[in-house]
Amino acid sequence: FRWIEVENYAEMSRLAAAIFEQQLLEKPDSVLGLATGGSPVGFYEALVKQFQQGGFTFKDAQSFNLDEYVGISPIDSTSYHSYMERHLFSHIDLPLESRNLPDGMAENIPAECDHYEQAIVQSGGIDLQLLGIGVNGHIGFNEPGTSFQSKTHVVELADETREENAKYFSSKEDVPKHAITMGISTIMKAKKIVLLAFGEHKLEAIKRLRFEGISEDFPASILKEHPHVTVLYGK
Ligand code: F6R
Repeated sequence: FRWIEVENYAEMSRLAAAIFEQQLLEKPDSVLGLATGGSPVGFYEALVKQFQQGGFTFKDAQSFNLDEYVGISPIDSTSYHSYMERHLFSHIDLPLESRNLPDGMAENIPAECDHYEQAIVQSGGIDLQLLGIGVNGHIGFNEPGTSFQSKTHVVELADETREENAKYFSSKEDVPKHAITMGISTIMKAKKIVLLAFGEHKLEAIKRLRFEGISEDFPASILKEHPHVTVLYGK
């Protein structure tokens, strides 16, 4: 476990982007695990800037996002598909067919979950996974109580998570009630993990991650069993 306390958000973003750049330099056909939300916005900006300056490419890489809402069209601006398009995909040379997110519009959602899990395995597995953390310790949309054995699955979002995410919608009522998320075991299979947590409101979660034991009541705590995690945090 590497704990890196940063001075500010820009420093966190730059350091994370440097880790991803290094990964692509060492292994151009890396499988990248990606996240959405507020924490990685600056990271994507820094990564795009680094990419535009040249020296590395995404053309042989693949990506898998952690999660997507159920019932939101990929072209809707609140979908994680369009978040990724906006913040990363439209600015880099990652081929269209190499970008993967769960399909929240699939007719058969459980089948889509199995298919997504299989696609990750068939890619050779995630080399480097980016994570954020919820104030309740969720990773992906794995809320407290989720089994550590879980694979990609459909979840009902916790009330507090819907409240946290309401800022991206017109109202809390518009936040979808379900999402597809990589499971905890899916995340734990990634070879390396980088977790971003910035701001006063994340400090409690970071403290719990650091000092409390491993428990399904605090999903991120399982990361303590992972051999290669870097936590970038600050306020
Ligand atoms: C995003 C995701 C979530 C977020 C977490 C933190 O794909 O899976 O677990 O990483 O909710 O969100 P922010 O960064 O908005 O505080």
